[in-house]
Amino acid sequence: MTANAGKFITVEGIEGVGKSTNINAIRRVLDGRNINCIVTREPGGTDLGEDIRSLLLGHKHQAMSSDCELLLMFASRAQHLAQVITPALKRGQWVICDRFTDATYAYQGGGRGIDDKHIALLEDWVHGNKQPDLTFLLDTDVATGMARVHKRGATDRFESETIAFFERVRSKYLARAKQHPSRIAIIDAGRPLSEVEVSIRERLNLFLEHCQQ
Ligand code: TMP
Repeated sequence: MTANAGKFITVEGIEGVGKSTNINAIRRVLDGRNINCIVTREPGGTDLGEDIRSLLLGHKHQAMSSDCELLLMFASRAQHLAQVITPALKRGQWVICDRFTDATYAYQGGGRGIDDKHIALLEDWVHGNKQPDLTFLLDTDVATGMARVHKRGATDRFESETIAFFERVRSKYLARAKQHPSRIAIIDAGRPLSEVEVSIRERLNLFLEHCQQ
């Protein structure tokens, strides 16, 4: 990546942690600094990726194996990187992505029980050492997250999973944050939104200062 390449920010967490609202807050901070950014998501972010997303989130394929699910996540990611993320970063745009490979470790690794080494193989193949520069892990207890999801109405294939599944996903996210403390910032998302936003702004401002050095 060139010196003036854009930065890659990802936002992670179990369902119902308020990713969308907080992504808007991140965007407002960057807009306020005249940083040109795009907001995108996984699975999805391209026409092809959005079709893959429908396969993954819809209820049509209840028999989908965990390996198939894992490979579809990386198929969507490969297209997303090639078509959207890498070109944007090269142009100097910042990319804010709603979920990335940490989600695969958390959901397919923690949730479904796939060995990390299989995920690491695909990670290495699909994006090598291209990693997010900063990741916000919005963390709250599973009961709070799921209560918010069920308030929203119909649930997708992941949202219909058990509490035990989401406990495993959350634990894996927290373990990833421990492994990558300088990249992954844990934000307590169980607090009122205004407080969550303050924490995000503080961490983002630190990152922006660091980028200017
Ligand atoms: P969401 O981003 O709208 O919350 O929904 C995407 C769903 O896909 C969410 O339940 C998490 C799941 N997911 C994975 O299981 N693995 C992944 O690698 C990604 C990016 C998402």
